[in-house]
Amino acid sequence: MSALQAAGVLPAVAQAVAAPLTRAAIFLVATINPGPDNRATVRSFCGDIPALVRAVEFRDLEGGLSCVMGFGSDAWNRLFGSPRPAELHPFREIRAEARHAVSTPGDLLFHIRAKRMDLCFELATQFMAHIGNAVSPVDEVHGFRYFDDRDLIGFVDGTENPRGAAAVDAVLVGDEDSDFAGGSYVIVQKYLHDLGAWNALSTEAQERIIGRAKLSDIELDESVKPTSAHNALTTIVENGKEIKILRDNMPFGRAAHGEFGTYFIGYSRSPRTIEQMLENMFIGRPPGNYDRLLDFSRAVTGNLFFVPSATFLETVTEDQPAVADPPAAPVAADSSPSIPSVREGSLGIGSLKGDIRHE
Ligand code: HEM
Repeated sequence: MSALQAAGVLPAVAQAVAAPLTRAAIFLVATINPGPDNRATVRSFCGDIPALVRAVEFRDLEGGLSCVMGFGSDAWNRLFGSPRPAELHPFREIRAEARHAVSTPGDLLFHIRAKRMDLCFELATQFMAHIGNAVSPVDEVHGFRYFDDRDLIGFVDGTENPRGAAAVDAVLVGDEDSDFAGGSYVIVQKYLHDLGAWNALSTEAQERIIGRAKLSDIELDESVKPTSAHNALTTIVENGKEIKILRDNMPFGRAAHGEFGTYFIGYSRSPRTIEQMLENMFIGRPPGNYDRLLDFSRAVTGNLFFVPSATFLETVTEDQPAVADPPAAPVAADSSPSIPSVREGSLGIGSLKGDIRHE
């Protein structure tokens, strides 16, 4: 980072949010342990990240290693205080009949990508050597690319991602929140599939659920595509313009345990876009016309993080704002056994309506 960037004269440099899709990824979510020393460790680590990435990356410059670090809403308060990114808040759970987009704990996200898993693993190991005592792991998923960029339900995943300048425009905060320009919002959800039930469907029925042909990956014609198709409900149009997000979903699983999943990760310059997609999927557009993929896939985690610019991260110092540890979060009754749910106050789906931006 140059002195001009630090002084705000040059635009902030973004983290590697719009990095190309890779063959391997690690998604690591952790909470920061209570106490000022642990917060100081994390703050001091922020400035160490570029050097650690460079050291591991240099072992194979062709390996395309990159890392994105995100911060949850509570963690932001505890680490950085004010100012805050304008749209950062805890992930808002959604409940609709049997469908539940859970909200689970998470202060920090590391999204580590490379062509080789060993590079990802080495970087995650080096990170934990630095902050392992200051954080508690919540979830660690090792994702892999599957045949033809397919997810484990057999469909090519990622086709309609924006590319080039359109991707940058879709994911990076601009003048709308100038203190945090060059940052991005990211929502992650870990989905588990009932592959037996999914594979019992005919290919045609699966195609109507996703909205694309399975083999060719061509979008179904509007005349046959249901309004509940996944790619219909996740299309957001505002003032006649489609608002895109950038996804880098990855399959993961444990075959012997019958675990088959998709790790959803979506970057966006406003979390509202992805939240609107989630409402459309879980509640339905109109309500009841929900995403049938959710009859076969359930979300077991859910988090929203802000990804500040690389320029911001490099200016973080060990000195901390005086912020107390928060009270322990309430645990939801029907949470996944391994990953307890938390809720944002008393927010239910109805309360989402208050701050809809893209309507
Ligand atoms: C079980 C988890 C999920 C699976 C297996 C999945 C799979 C897919 C597939 C196969 C496609 C079509 C190909 C493509 O354009 O990428 C797609 C499209 C898309 N998905 Fe998902 N998805 C999942 C969850 C989500 C979630 C949670 C969101 C957002 C909240 C989302 C947003 C999108 C968007 C924006 C598109 C492109 C729509 C278009 O412009 O045509 N997906 N997804």
